[in-house]
Amino acid sequence: MWIMNSNYQKPDEFWPKLAEDLSALISGEENAIANLANISSWLFHALPELNWCGFYLWNEVDQELILGPFQGKPACIRIQSGRGVCGTAYRDQKTLRVDDVASFPGHIACDSESQSELVIPLQQFGVLDLDSPKLNRFSKRDEVELTRIMNQLLPMLKF
Ligand code: SME
Repeated sequence: MWIMNSNYQKPDEFWPKLAEDLSALISGEENAIANLANISSWLFHALPELNWCGFYLWNEVDQELILGPFQGKPACIRIQSGRGVCGTAYRDQKTLRVDDVASFPGHIACDSESQSELVIPLQQFGVLDLDSPKLNRFSKRDEVELTRIMNQLLPMLKF
């Protein structure tokens, strides 16, 4: 059984504990889909004010991103490279923090509740997408820490 760590209440310990817990969560299991499912669940419950959290995975055959494990309402299934926030972050291999999705040209509105978004590329494998019903939900710190955590987890994921 997995229990959210009480140290999440302490601001100084939140990010190191989150990194440690995610790493423990996926250690010992090689199946990427299972690990991504658990990562999306853990992040969804550990981070406040999210309405959607999950992965879009690059499909070599179809040459587009396809919906992967996630938490939240059903979402659009396919996203071309360069389209929306996810496709742009993937194409440019750059984390994108969008304070107001309405101001992002070409934003794909899967869940009308989403107001701000953070998308982190996972090299050639795809992206992690976090959505919030709150404007300006994601800080520079969220961007830096989550990007660092995903870079740390990536070698542990066998795609
Ligand atoms: N809004 C995203 C699409 C994915 S959903 O938010 C889950 C985008 O513009 O890339």
